[in-house]
Amino acid sequence: MASASFRLSLFISMFSVCVLAQNDGSLAVGSTLTAKEASSSWLSPSGDFAFGFLHLQENDRFLLSIWYDKIPDKTVAWYVDSPSNPVPRGSSVVLDAQTGLVLRDPGGVTLWRTDGFSGAVNHGFMNDTGNFILKDINYTWIWESFGFASDTILPLQELVYGSVLNSRQSESNFTRGRFYLRFLDDGNLVLRTNSLPSSGNDTEYYNSHTSDPKNSSDPVYRVIFNSTGSLYMLKKSNQTIQLSPLSVRSASEYYYRAKLDFDGVFTYYSHPRNFTGNSTWTVLWAVPEDICSDLDGVPGGGACGSNSICSLVDRKPVCECPKGYTLLDPYDKYGSCMPNFNQSCGEVEKLSAEDLYDTWVASDLYWPKSDYEEISPSTETGCRKACLEDCLCAVAISRNNSCWKKKLPLSNGRIATNLSSKVFLKYSKIDVAPQNPCLGGPKSKDRETLVLVESVFLGSSLFLNILFIGAACFGFQVIYQKRKSNFHLHNEAVETNLRIFSYKELAKATNHFEEELGRGSFGIVYKGETNVSLTNKINVAVKMLDRVARDAEKEFLAEVNSIGQTNHKHLVRLLGACYENQHRLLVYEYMPNGTLASLLFGDTIPSWKLRTQIATGIARGLVYLHEECSSPMIHCDIKPQNILLDDYYNARISDFGLAKLLQINQSRTLTNIRGTRGYVAPEWFRNTQITSKVDVYSFGVLLLEIICCRRHVEDVEVGEGGNSILTDWVWDCFQEGRLDALVENDFEVLEDRKKLQKFVMIGIWCIQEDPSLRPTMRKVSHMLEGIVEVVVPPCPSHFFSTI
Ligand SMILES: *[C@@H]1O[C@H](CO)[C@@H](O)[C@H](O)[C@H]1NC(C)=O
Ligand SMILES: *[C@@H]1O[C@H](CO)[C@@H](O)[C@H](O)[C@H]1NC(C)=O
Ligand SMILES: *[C@@H]1O[C@H](CO)[C@@H](O)[C@H](O)[C@H]1NC(C)=O
Ligand SMILES: *[C@@H]1O[C@H](CO)[C@@H](O)[C@H](O)[C@H]1NC(C)=O
Ligand SMILES: *[C@@H]1O[C@H](CO)[C@@H](O)[C@H](O)[C@H]1NC(C)=O
Ligand SMILES: *[C@@H]1O[C@H](CO)[C@@H](O)[C@H](O)[C@H]1NC(C)=O
Ligand SMILES: *[C@@H]1O[C@H](CO)[C@@H](O)[C@H](O)[C@H]1NC(C)=O
Ligand SMILES: *[C@@H]1O[C@H](CO)[C@@H](O)[C@H](O)[C@H]1NC(C)=O
Ligand SMILES: *[C@@H]1O[C@H](CO)[C@@H](O)[C@H](O)[C@H]1NC(C)=O
Ligand SMILES: *[C@@H]1O[C@H](CO)[C@@H](O)[C@H](O)[C@H]1NC(C)=O
Ligand SMILES: *[C@@H]1O[C@H](CO)[C@@H](O)[C@H](O)[C@H]1NC(C)=O
Ligand SMILES: *[C@@H]1O[C@H](CO)[C@@H](O)[C@H](O)[C@H]1NC(C)=O
Repeated sequence: MASASFRLSLFISMFSVCVLAQNDGSLAVGSTLTAKEASSSWLSPSGDFAFGFLHLQENDRFLLSIWYDKIPDKTVAWYVDSPSNPVPRGSSVVLDAQTGLVLRDPGGVTLWRTDGFSGAVNHGFMNDTGNFILKDINYTWIWESFGFASDTILPLQELVYGSVLNSRQSESNFTRGRFYLRFLDDGNLVLRTNSLPSSGNDTEYYNSHTSDPKNSSDPVYRVIFNSTGSLYMLKKSNQTIQLSPLSVRSASEYYYRAKLDFDGVFTYYSHPRNFTGNSTWTVLWAVPEDICSDLDGVPGGGACGSNSICSLVDRKPVCECPKGYTLLDPYDKYGSCMPNFNQSCGEVEKLSAEDLYDTWVASDLYWPKSDYEEISPSTETGCRKACLEDCLCAVAISRNNSCWKKKLPLSNGRIATNLSSKVFLKYSKIDVAPQNPCLGGPKSKDRETLVLVESVFLGSSLFLNILFIGAACFGFQVIYQKRKSNFHLHNEAVETNLRIFSYKELAKATNHFEEELGRGSFGIVYKGETNVSLTNKINVAVKMLDRVARDAEKEFLAEVNSIGQTNHKHLVRLLGACYENQHRLLVYEYMPNGTLASLLFGDTIPSWKLRTQIATGIARGLVYLHEECSSPMIHCDIKPQNILLDDYYNARISDFGLAKLLQINQSRTLTNIRGTRGYVAPEWFRNTQITSKVDVYSFGVLLLEIICCRRHVEDVEVGEGGNSILTDWVWDCFQEGRLDALVENDFEVLEDRKKLQKFVMIGIWCIQEDPSLRPTMRKVSHMLEGIVEVVVPPCPSHFFSTI
């Protein structure tokens, strides 16, 4: 949790060792560091701490800071808290006799320098305590980084009256954040949020209440972090008020630090000094107790943004949008949520409230504010109805025969399990897009159960795991595989004729990874040439996996083996693999005719015949993956970029089995979803079971794209007239009997109207929001091939936009 999300290149530590060998940490005036990967830090004598430029890989900037150099994550303990830090590559810091440390950009412009000292600097020193010290000729300390805390304090550092710690924006963004800690001169330690621009005053969410107004002769006057790692407040009388736990472990064995985290929690951490492998910082103490309820600010000023719901995990706030709401800024998990629908007052007069709105039911959600009306007495049904009929109402809470109506923005939402209340979250049945015709869609039993399941889940576990696509795929494949097969590791490679390549061989085959064929979700694909059998050389595609979650060779082999066991006309064949040190590469058949994406969305439209063949081929390939192969699997990422075309323009599915192989983690999953927006089935966004029906959904979207030769989500200009989202537009046209509009100018298709109609209907069946309404791939395949009849599909009825 506390681990910073960046890593230093090896170079720094290697170089630093050299520095260490050369001096004892004492730095002469004139010493300079330059912001680049190598040679950019000064180590403390023990090597525990380093001062210098930490490379932030995300944006290739360098943070002038002090960090724990022996911890692989290079946890930052201090940084120059200035808007110009981090700095660009090529910036420098120099130790100057008159001005101390001076930070300059590559053009020589001064960005920051030490201030608050008098005298002349004789030398600098990176202390093993994590304190960077400037000393004069008499070895008197004239400046120390401990006097200018950023967000962290370390043992031997003290807070005096007026001392402040400022939080960062996020764990990896060092811009100043919303929270600060201040030691007030009345002896209280407080945590506050910077006032939002719109409001006047800062909100206080923690106060140590340690000042004693009745006894001003004995005030608290210091916050001490002593050398053995104990954090306490000290009174004039030498009495102490302990903050951190007393029985902390020995400071010679553990690092300690206390940090005002970016989420507003002041947290006391420890980390073993001598650790093996991937040890992390442990939280030993934190204030406030419960930031979700203690930070009770102005709308939007809580621990989470407006309309968001806060829950505590390990003393830390976790923010989630309620059902029907999504993040305003998808990258800011702690930001505000927006409803996915428009709440319009009095716009659509012809329709009754019941036609326009419905509610989801949840329990345990609590918004202490945003009430605008209380109805008492009121039954639950009465409460729900009152909210439905009131255009201002966003949420109604029914409890103890009373009803509270709340309007947007909802602030300080949180989980409260002891209130025994019923919460009605109002949503619009008219989808996001105003032109969506799914008015009052079918009210099936399934739908009701779905809502119920979701409500229960909303109330309890707070849908923390919404987006664990990879993990889910992984789980399901495991289940599938357990049922189906057992591997015998030793002879498996033989069984499947998979060839194990050495890294050297593949480097040679690809001419040192010269020609890039494409970049996928899992890594870069290079073109190569190798002799798979003794006699003939063939072209291959070599995929270099960019992450290696499963480093165990055995497991990697087992996964690769299950991929290698697949053999189908419509799947790309795996020929071999390489697992050497950190390298993981897969060698596939080379597909000369590119991806379906480039075929469909290129300049010339492929023939209707070819398109129907391709669609049928993909369906067959998926039937095989889902049901027929020896270790069935869910693909999880069906999209035109993952369908390749062989010499004969047969569709060949690629990238199957990789979700499991790589055990994708959460952040990767998020980007995956973003990248593949539109193909992702709605159940990914809920905590419901993930089944092979997710592939059916993606196939449905893909099928509609094949029919119309356009992308699911089109640029806004193209989408004029309300057809920017393909699935919505297709449903529109289907309902209004205007299928011609979908394939304008494509005379081949217009002459094959019956098939067009059938394919569109199959596509709509596949994109049903309710997975149980979607057919299996086998049935889809049969429908496409005309083996079974296709009946008129119901409205896909999106609750929220599927883009
Ligand atoms: C390092 O810090 C410790 C504790 O503040 C201090 O006693 C020691 O003198 C410092 N070392 C140097 C070389 O300044
Ligand atoms: C260093 O110490 C000497 C002798 O105690 C004193 O004369 C001089 O002013 C001191 N220099 C500084 C910069 O404090
Ligand atoms: C850090 O956050 C600030 C404020 O939100 C933003 O302006 C800035 O672009 C962010 N920096 C990075 C590197 O993301
Ligand atoms: C800020 O606090 C002061 C004193 O508590 C109060 O008088 C003032 O109205 C507050 N300002 C706002 C904008 O809330
Ligand atoms: C104030 O604190 C001092 C030191 O702890 C104590 O001796 C004295 O009795 C206290 N006075 C009152 C009025 O509590
Ligand atoms: C640090 O403080 C704790 C209690 O607050 C005390 O037990 C310990 O002896 C102190 N360590 C030192 C080196 O003063
Ligand atoms: C508090 O402790 C310091 C250092 O141990 C000592 O100099 C001072 O006299 C003590 N003060 C009181 C009131 O006991
Ligand atoms: C670290 O732990 C290992 C094994 O427990 C021990 O051999 C080694 O001496 C320890 N190193 C230090 C610096 O404590
Ligand atoms: C390293 O992390 C993995 C996964 O989180 C865990 O299974 C393993 O036990 C950890 N190793 C050590 C030495 O802590
Ligand atoms: C329920 O309401 C009644 C009357 O309004 C009140 O007396 C009672 O304390 C309330 N119970 C709870 C649990 O709030
Ligand atoms: C809400 O309505 C406004 C105006 O009627 C429109 O501009 C906006 O796009 C709508 N937003 C959504 C999410 O439908
Ligand atoms: C498709 O593949 C065949 C066989 O390799 C090749 O002759 C043809 O040029 C390819 N077509 C395109 C458009 O690349």
